[in-house]
Amino acid sequence: MTTNAPLGARAASHDEEPQLDANQSASPLLSENNIDEVLNAMTLEEKAKLLVGGANNFFGAGAVVGGEADLVAGAAGTSPAIPRLGIPATVLTDGPAGVRIDPIRKGTDKTYYATAFPIGSCLASTWNTELVSKVGEAIGNETKEYRCDVILGPGMNLHRNPLCGRNFEYYSEDPFLTGKIAAAYINGVQSQGVGVSAKHFAVNSQETDRTAVDERVSQRAARELYLRGFEIAVRESAPWTIMASYNQVNGQYSMGNYDLLTKILRNDWGYKGIVMTDWIGIREGLSTISEVHAGNDLMEPGQPAQVEEIIKGVKDGKLDIADVDRNVRRMLEYIVKTPSFNKYSASNAPDFKAHATITRQSAAEGIVMLKNNGALPWKEGDIKTVALFGENSYDFLSGGTGSGCVHPPYVVDMLEGLKNTGIISSPTLTDIYRKYIEYARVKFQAERHPAKWFQIEMMGQQKYPEIGLSPIAIGKEVQGADAAIITIGRQAGEGIDRDIDTEFNLIPEERALIMDVCNAFHQAGKPVIVIINSGSVIETASWSCYPDAILCAWQPGMEGGNSIADLLTGKVNPSGKLTMTWPIAATDHPSTNNFPGQMDDYTFRMMAGNRMPIPGHAYTNHEEDIYVGYRFFDTFNRNVAYPFGFGLSYTTFDYSKPIVKAKGSTIEVSIIVRNSGSVSGKEVAQVYVTAPKGRIEKPVQELKAFAKTRELQPGESQTLTMTIPVRDLASFDESGSQWITEAGIYTFRIGASSRDIRATTELNIKEYTEKTTDALAPQQKLSLLHQ
Ligand code: BGC
Repeated sequence: MTTNAPLGARAASHDEEPQLDANQSASPLLSENNIDEVLNAMTLEEKAKLLVGGANNFFGAGAVVGGEADLVAGAAGTSPAIPRLGIPATVLTDGPAGVRIDPIRKGTDKTYYATAFPIGSCLASTWNTELVSKVGEAIGNETKEYRCDVILGPGMNLHRNPLCGRNFEYYSEDPFLTGKIAAAYINGVQSQGVGVSAKHFAVNSQETDRTAVDERVSQRAARELYLRGFEIAVRESAPWTIMASYNQVNGQYSMGNYDLLTKILRNDWGYKGIVMTDWIGIREGLSTISEVHAGNDLMEPGQPAQVEEIIKGVKDGKLDIADVDRNVRRMLEYIVKTPSFNKYSASNAPDFKAHATITRQSAAEGIVMLKNNGALPWKEGDIKTVALFGENSYDFLSGGTGSGCVHPPYVVDMLEGLKNTGIISSPTLTDIYRKYIEYARVKFQAERHPAKWFQIEMMGQQKYPEIGLSPIAIGKEVQGADAAIITIGRQAGEGIDRDIDTEFNLIPEERALIMDVCNAFHQAGKPVIVIINSGSVIETASWSCYPDAILCAWQPGMEGGNSIADLLTGKVNPSGKLTMTWPIAATDHPSTNNFPGQMDDYTFRMMAGNRMPIPGHAYTNHEEDIYVGYRFFDTFNRNVAYPFGFGLSYTTFDYSKPIVKAKGSTIEVSIIVRNSGSVSGKEVAQVYVTAPKGRIEKPVQELKAFAKTRELQPGESQTLTMTIPVRDLASFDESGSQWITEAGIYTFRIGASSRDIRATTELNIKEYTEKTTDALAPQQKLSLLHQ
């Protein structure tokens, strides 16, 4: 258990504190080589100030500590400047799918739009770390050219349940894939000389009551699942910053959680960067003092009272000056790396053309083909006119809502994407849908709940309810079109989880649209393609038999319509694979009973500055423990709509017999993948490992490596060689606070999805153990599902 206030804290000796004199020129100016000297020269007030964010959009201008609020309009926050010591403010901007700043500023006609790149679930579905790094480089470049120092991403929480509102920002239900994709993104961004903030650390897999809920989780599930992606990212990409989440983990807010922020993050993993809070300022039930002590270096967005609290804490002996100095040193080490410190002259003019190409390519590689009965790809000249149904065909969703939205200069919708390839769409439908969208926009804004901030257009594109079209109107479209496309759109985002009936499932209008369009077009022998324009999983099992092909396009960024057209026309062969299971019903996930947690009678919350009893979800028990996603569905043999790792191609691939060798502390797996079809394409080979029966119960298989081929021509082969550290096969053994790979025969199952295993082989492995700190013990006994 950790305490809120540090024990044995000593008050600062004020005799030792530097005194400011009139002659300020004597102050050392910060450089890479004089961090100790600057630290020694800082007054307690300056130290406290440096640990508290300097600007915010949340608490009004009066709360700005350093006056840096307007450095970059619309950026989420800053770290404060201390000019006396040559310490500049640094600017933190959301993320993760591009730079979120205000596109329009007062007093200038110049615009500040940013490229909307594919959202997290689309990016991860590429399973292409090289490509993700390129996207990271482009995002890093825009961050820097828009005068920011840190992009607040990647979002790395797990898809524990398909209803989490922010799943679109996150990568996967699997921590290994999450960690690898995140490390690629981070290395890409940071190669540009700007930083990331890997978020939200940790166990933040729901939006409902996210600022209060206690995520109760076993130490094992925490280490193996919820923390594992972050561990990989820390070890493989050294993020400059990490953002502590709003929620509690086992009874302690992440932001003030010494076990999480110091014992695990720094002592076990060797993290050297800074930790910042998520954007809450002073929070109910947690002192800034305990946040500083826990290892939280920067309070965002920052309130003056927090500076005062730190100063008073030190003076009263409640906060050890050593903790303050430790955090200040880390802040200085961060600051000297930033473009702001290095006086980078930002152009405010990123290369949109080059970045449009990157987003178009990466989206095309992240789109997953779920079904194809041969209707795709369209051969040149086959399809000249298309009937485009669904309001999102004309108002395509490039990304989600909330802090993860981006303001792009344009969004290519389906209409335009098809037009760019020379395919014409029905003018009648275009007219109907455009008029409807105009009307729906006005109505939506007039009726929106004033408290629902995420429903304003500045917080992302909105989704308007689908309209019904009569079978007669649909029938009229058949003659003039060679094919039909139906776009099913879903919007979700920060602050609210998704609803099963209207957001996971199809609504009656959508169901009728699919049935009526399929009936009418199939009668005339014409194909129907469904495009899913959603950041997260939706229900498909009840209708997927009707259309000829289904593409899950996610929210693929501002070039979305072009990326989809590239796939429809076969210019690009689909190679995206699902990074999460698509269940038959949302409730098939074992987290259902505990999502979004248990209601308390009431919990005290801050509302409009007052402490009020508000009913809320007090805690979420992770009863499913380590059985999240395919770990559950595959171990307990449950039917799914589409399994983890699934995705179709226009070609086929053969897998050779794999070779698995022990090489010191690692295992090398190699396999030859051959394109056995008639068009070129890429394949993702996935390595699942089944452990021998031992002392610790394990899922039937877990993803331990993957590799994507280059574009293989028909008949061409590539040898994929993947390295798995023996450590990565370990389970977390709570009783010994250690990682343990039990000795025995391990089976390596290599395939095209978790349920399409093409080749297996075995290897005898010796025991491996690694001690960790004993951290994050649950405060209550958790009743776990499968024990
Ligand atoms: C979100 C973060 C975001 C921050 C700054 C918070 O509400 O949870 O993901 O980076 O706001 O906008």
